[in-house]
Amino acid sequence: MKKQSLTGEVFYPSEEVVQKALVKDWEAMDVEAKRDYPGFWGKMAEELHWFQKWDKVIDDSEKPFYKWFTGAKTNIVYNCLDIHVKTFRRNKLALIWEGENGDVKTFSYFALHRETCKFANVLRSMGVKKGDRVTIYMGRTPEIMIAMLACARIGAVHSVVYGGFSVESLSERIEDSNSKVLIVSDGAYQRGKIVPLKQIADEALQRCGTVEHCLVVKRTGIEINMEQGRDMWYHELMNLPIATQACALEIVDSEDPLFILYTSGTTGKPKAILHTHGGYMVGTYTTLKYVFDIHEEDRYWCAADPGWITGHSYIVYGPLLNGTTSFLYEGAPNFPYPNRWWSMIERYGINILYTAPTAIRGLMRFGEAWVNRHDLSSLRILGSVGEPINPEAWRWYHRVVGKEKCPIMDTWWQTETGMFMITPMPCVPLKPGSGTRPFPGIEMDVVDENGKSVKANEEGYLIIKTPWPAMIRTVYKDPERYKQYWEKYPGIYMTGDSARRDEDGYFWIIGRVDDVIKVSGYRLGTAEIESALVSHFSVAEAAAIGLPHEIKGNAIYTYVILKTGIEKSTQLIEELRQHVSHEVGPIAKPEHIEFVDSLPKTRSGKIMRRVLKARALGEDPGNISTLEE
Ligand code: WTA
Repeated sequence: MKKQSLTGEVFYPSEEVVQKALVKDWEAMDVEAKRDYPGFWGKMAEELHWFQKWDKVIDDSEKPFYKWFTGAKTNIVYNCLDIHVKTFRRNKLALIWEGENGDVKTFSYFALHRETCKFANVLRSMGVKKGDRVTIYMGRTPEIMIAMLACARIGAVHSVVYGGFSVESLSERIEDSNSKVLIVSDGAYQRGKIVPLKQIADEALQRCGTVEHCLVVKRTGIEINMEQGRDMWYHELMNLPIATQACALEIVDSEDPLFILYTSGTTGKPKAILHTHGGYMVGTYTTLKYVFDIHEEDRYWCAADPGWITGHSYIVYGPLLNGTTSFLYEGAPNFPYPNRWWSMIERYGINILYTAPTAIRGLMRFGEAWVNRHDLSSLRILGSVGEPINPEAWRWYHRVVGKEKCPIMDTWWQTETGMFMITPMPCVPLKPGSGTRPFPGIEMDVVDENGKSVKANEEGYLIIKTPWPAMIRTVYKDPERYKQYWEKYPGIYMTGDSARRDEDGYFWIIGRVDDVIKVSGYRLGTAEIESALVSHFSVAEAAAIGLPHEIKGNAIYTYVILKTGIEKSTQLIEELRQHVSHEVGPIAKPEHIEFVDSLPKTRSGKIMRRVLKARALGEDPGNISTLEE
């Protein structure tokens, strides 16, 4: 590819990388996609199987409720499993799994198809039907994938709750989705300890009344309570005669729901982002294929958790749609030693590693020697997601892990987008800290308050101008909340991020402009943390903000007004931190709690988090004219 002259620190792809890459000319692909983006996505969709073809690639008659591949009949699971079982991929490994304690399991496409069918039959036997919601709360084991795929196979809608969430978060999500079935594991190994998932679920189930059946996967063998009539063991169900491996696939409409996934929004409770079979399938298949340049012989590892969108799109669906071999690891990156990841890359011959900046920064801290003990020459492509990657971490990742030969795909996207939006491909010249440009067929911009494009290098709101196949369809049960994404500028999707674009058209993400905090790449809302604090008997009011943190990207700082008569003490601080951890999850535990007598508020009573943040950073709070006395 011709060397363009770009400004700043630029890493051009090697001849070797470009030679192998599926896309050698990004510009040509982009031009073609821009000329006719429905045509572009239609062409991508042709590579997948449909029981009936679409009438229209995109239907925009009810904006912003876009529909994709209308009239088509499909089921994402058919393209993830059934199709491969009919080819040479039948015996190819779909999944290699390593437990934190060293257990290993592998599944060929044939085996993953079999287990999925069996479990789908189990779910059907419990009365789960098309459109029913099923909540899944498990650690990183193959069964979480089997559970998701089994739901989708019968047209049920999965709602996965990340295993790092806790009692109130889980119960709220079960209740909101009205799930009658909950699938859990007894526990999950994490840093040598066991997270008691079933015990947390028991407490959550006491707070909500919808669940009739709780199916329990035995992972750790810890002592758990099994409630008669409600709780059943997965392995026992899978041995029943009803769990046959022949399971009719539910043929669904392209626009039928595939899953809901709760994520934190600007205000209030987490919202359930809804994705559908057809468009999501095309979006995740295409983006993974071209961005991570999937070749038949690859072994691909996305080190995220299946319980977040990264796991849904790029551990479960995208890789299976591409017929690739995925690796899944249960536990902590530094257990028992900081070389765990590097050892697994060497032992399994991983070619593609996709992770988050926080993990890179965490491992960087242990020094290069841990990495250098291992032969990482199998690695070809690296990836990053979840938050901006600081150039220092980028360079370390590139030099120490990738040995200066692996391009880094810094992918910007969201739960709502379902798929990569701003991302390089291996043939694209890289700049550390920038996700480069939007994927072909996607139009994005950086605009000011009035929706006008800002000048090069000026900060503004990051927006999306054209619809894309894996886009959010609605907020489950709350279409008004979905419309809010499109309200600030009509017809334009507001990402909630601020960004700038440099003179080469490269995007640089700055961060969230709303009350979402990205902690170690995890998306949390100030509202969730504040309501957990206020649910403690001693707290009258609370405010949460995110402040920069060297490893986590952001850390949670909270300000608490105690009820009258309650004594301030360090013991109470620890109790409140534990309380948030118990209610929301360990990922939401505040780094810092400060007792205050008042909080800065607007005259209408809204907490001015901006002022708190400025104060904590020793900065000027800017315009405070709306501040209450
Ligand atoms: C942030 C995660 C910078 C961003 C897939 C976005 C990023 C939010 C990047 C969505 C990246 C994600 N560079 N920032 N490569 N990727 N973000 O829904 O603020 O958990 O709006 O999806 O993460 O978080 P979510």
